[in-house]
Amino acid sequence: HPALLAATPPMGWNDWAHYQCDMNEQTITANADALVSSGLAAKGYTTVTVDDCWMTAQRDSGGHLVADATKFPHGMAWLGSYLHSRGLKFGIYEDAGSSTCGGYAGSGQPQGGGADHFAEDAADFAAWGVDYLKLDGCNVYTAAGQTQEQAYRQAYDAESAALAASGRAITFSESAPAYFQSGEWGNPSWFSVLGWVGGDGQLWREGYDIATYDSTNPNASRWSSVLSNYGYNRWIGRYEKPGNWNDPDFLIAGDGGLTDDESRSQVALWSMMSAPMILSSNVAQLTPAGLAALGNTDLIALDQDSLGRQAGVVSTDGSTDVLAKPLANGDRAVSVLNRTGSARSVSVALASVGLPSCTVSAKDLWSGASSTVSGSLTATVPAHGTAVWRLTPKGCATPVPTGQVTGNGA
Ligand code: GLA
Repeated sequence: HPALLAATPPMGWNDWAHYQCDMNEQTITANADALVSSGLAAKGYTTVTVDDCWMTAQRDSGGHLVADATKFPHGMAWLGSYLHSRGLKFGIYEDAGSSTCGGYAGSGQPQGGGADHFAEDAADFAAWGVDYLKLDGCNVYTAAGQTQEQAYRQAYDAESAALAASGRAITFSESAPAYFQSGEWGNPSWFSVLGWVGGDGQLWREGYDIATYDSTNPNASRWSSVLSNYGYNRWIGRYEKPGNWNDPDFLIAGDGGLTDDESRSQVALWSMMSAPMILSSNVAQLTPAGLAALGNTDLIALDQDSLGRQAGVVSTDGSTDVLAKPLANGDRAVSVLNRTGSARSVSVALASVGLPSCTVSAKDLWSGASSTVSGSLTATVPAHGTAVWRLTPKGCATPVPTGQVTGNGA
C-alpha cells in the first residue's frame, strides 16, 4: 500500500486570492522564496500551487495543455524543478469541465459530449513533477439522462483514476461540493457529494471563494467572508479523517482587509477545524500579526494533529462560538470566537467541553502561558478575536475517552 497521502491537512500557498489571473512565473517564484525566507516553509507551508490562468485557451495539435509562454517562459517542468530545489512541492490547477473558471482549456469533456483529457493531462502533470492538483468544477458537461451530481462524480472519479495511473503520488484537491452548496443550508445534494469525494481525493473545497484582495482598496473588509466560510465548515467535521479534509478555502490572514485580531481568528478557527492551511497572499508583505499567527507552532500543531478530528461546535449564538477538538495525546483544544464588535469576558465550563470534574493545565496559545484550571476557563476576548487553549487533563474524577468529540462535529 502506498503511504497515505495528506495524512494531515495540506499546507502551502496559492496565488489566487491575492493575484487572480494577474500573475506569472516571477509571482510564483518570489512567493516561494518568501515562504522559505520567512520561515513559513520550515513550519510546513510547502505546497506552492499555481491557480487558474497558467495555460492557454487551446490545446496544442497533439492535444496537450500548453503553458502561457508570456507568463511562464520557462514552462511548468522548470517551475517544478525550481520549487523542488528549494524543498517545496509543486501544485497546479485544472478543471473538471470543458474549460476552467477563467475560460482556459479544461481537462473535462467538451460541451455536448466527447473525449475528456484526464489521462493525458495527469500524465503531463506527473512528467512536470506535479505533487498536488486542484481540480475545479466550472463548465462540467451534464449529458442527457444524467443528474448534475452524476456528471461531477464521473469527472472526479476519472481524474482520481488518472492520477493513480500517472505513476506519481499527487495529492488531489477537489471542488465538487462547492458547486452544490447553493447558498442554502441543507441542500441534500451537498451532503451527498460530501459523502463520496473522500473516496476520490484528499481534500475538497466545500463552498464559496474567500474574498479576494482588492488592490484598489486594500483595507476593504474580508471578515464577513471568513465568518461565512467558517460558518458552513464548522458543521461538517464528520467528513474528516486522516487523508480526507474539508477545505473552507484560503488563509488570507495578514494580507489586507482584516484587523490583526481577525487575522488571528482565521488562523485559530482553521486550525481548530483541521482545515488545509493554504495561504493566498503576498507573502513578503504579510503583516507582523498575520505572519506571527500563521507561524504559531502551537496552532499548527492543532491543525496537524495526527488524530485528524475537526473541532465540534459546543455552543453558538450571535455573540460567541465555543469549539472543542480532541487531540491524539488525550489533550483537548478549546476556542472561543467573539463575533461582536467589542471585547467580551467569556467563561467556558470544562464540563461543557467534555472534561467534567477535571483539573487541567491550560495553555493559552496566544500568550504561551500555562495555568492550572478547574471549573471554568475564563478570558477577555477582543472584538472579532478568538481565544484558544490547549488543555492537558491533570486529574479527572471520571476517565475521559480519547477522541471523543463534543458538539456536532463528528
Ligand atoms: C473558482 C475557484 C477559485 C479559483 C478560480 C479560478 O472560483 O473557487 O478558488 O480557482 O475559480 O478561476
